[in-house]
Amino acid sequence: MPGIANLASKIGKQLPIELVELMESAGLIAVSQGRCLYLVGGVVRDLLLWRSNLDLDLVVEGDAIKLAQRLAEITGGGITTHLRFGTAKLKWDKWSVDLAMARAETYVRPGALPTVKHSSLATDLLRRDFTINAMAVELIPGHWGRLIDLYGGCDDLRRKLIRILYGRSFVDDATRMWRAIRYEQRLGFKLEANTRHRLERDVSCLDTISGDRIRHELELVLKEESPEKALRRAEELGVLAKLHPRLKGDDWLAERFSEARQFSIPGVPPVGLYLALFTYSLTSSEIEGLISYLRLSKRLARVLLDTAGLKTKLKLLAKPKLRSSHVYDLLHDYSVTALTANSLATTSTIARQHIQLFLVKLRYVKSALSGEDLKKIGIPVGPRMKEILQELHEARLDMRVTSRKEEMELVRGRVGKENNYNEMVR
Ligand code: CTP
Repeated sequence: MPGIANLASKIGKQLPIELVELMESAGLIAVSQGRCLYLVGGVVRDLLLWRSNLDLDLVVEGDAIKLAQRLAEITGGGITTHLRFGTAKLKWDKWSVDLAMARAETYVRPGALPTVKHSSLATDLLRRDFTINAMAVELIPGHWGRLIDLYGGCDDLRRKLIRILYGRSFVDDATRMWRAIRYEQRLGFKLEANTRHRLERDVSCLDTISGDRIRHELELVLKEESPEKALRRAEELGVLAKLHPRLKGDDWLAERFSEARQFSIPGVPPVGLYLALFTYSLTSSEIEGLISYLRLSKRLARVLLDTAGLKTKLKLLAKPKLRSSHVYDLLHDYSVTALTANSLATTSTIARQHIQLFLVKLRYVKSALSGEDLKKIGIPVGPRMKEILQELHEARLDMRVTSRKEEMELVRGRVGKENNYNEMVR
């Protein structure tokens, strides 16, 4: 990036016209209010790296909420505001933009959310996580596109370094350890030596962060293209052990994650499946502990508990020549994610084949006759009907019947036998 001082042409080439126009309008309003306006943070970094990023963060040296209100009028959009931080989110059509006042932050104790007060842009940039995220671009007419790089962000992009801006950065906000690892692995950068030293020294500060915030960081990691890289690095730096001492980011995990992607919709990170594999080596009670610490959603909690539950059935599933109906019995209560996780994780080829059989075939098998059909031939609704329907389903699974006609014969045979028996005992 030698000599880059103006990003106007990059903005024009890399951002959609709707966002460029919004920034132009915002710049005009800011200037009419006697304020400066800047594009800041990750999007500046990504403009310089030619990476796609549509998450605009605007900073105004003044009232961001007032500015957001004017923009909402122009775009016909809506805003949500956060008075405590002086921030607003503007949404219109399919777009959204974050606006904030330039602010200084102080932390009453490590890991607490910051107390904020109005400040200059220079102070606002200095309180941020890394130099590469602490650049700004001016958005007012006359200065449109001018890069403001006060802390060596461009140099660090060039040298591929993740560098904190001040010594206590990780102490103030230990989630930045996860962020550092995420950027390092995403961009193929390295932690700058002092940053690495501080991270390893301050790693115990992760204990000051709430489970909710750690979960958020973990979810962001799992949404990366290759999360296994960040998890490996997190283990190496002692960050993973802070989440749970028995979690690993090893070769086994890397291989499973890469297989997991093959089972997933392209472009949609399989977060649940990743998490199930990541926690696979933990016991059920350790998993329960992690679920409550991270306050995982009901859906993710179910996936993890299901995965652990199914793990206890793998021995049975590893037996050769199981009847299909038996395989179905063992597996039909589990979610697809838990099934996939176990099929990827098990060392038993037979168990894997049984799970695959269930996933691709058995779970779709239905009998042709319904309760209505059975009613028509005189079988009343009740436990007996339920039993017969189950028997039909089993027979279908085991391919003892393959058509409606054969199902009917099976039912008539069974009813006939029952009638004979009843007459005998009468
Ligand atoms: N930031 C920070 N410390 C944090 C979180 C965020 O200093 N703990 C600052 C950084 O300047 C960051 C900006 O806030 O660039 C916006 O945060 P976020 O949207 O999380 O980061 P992006 O850089 O946009 O990252 P990503 O590419 O992961 O979306």
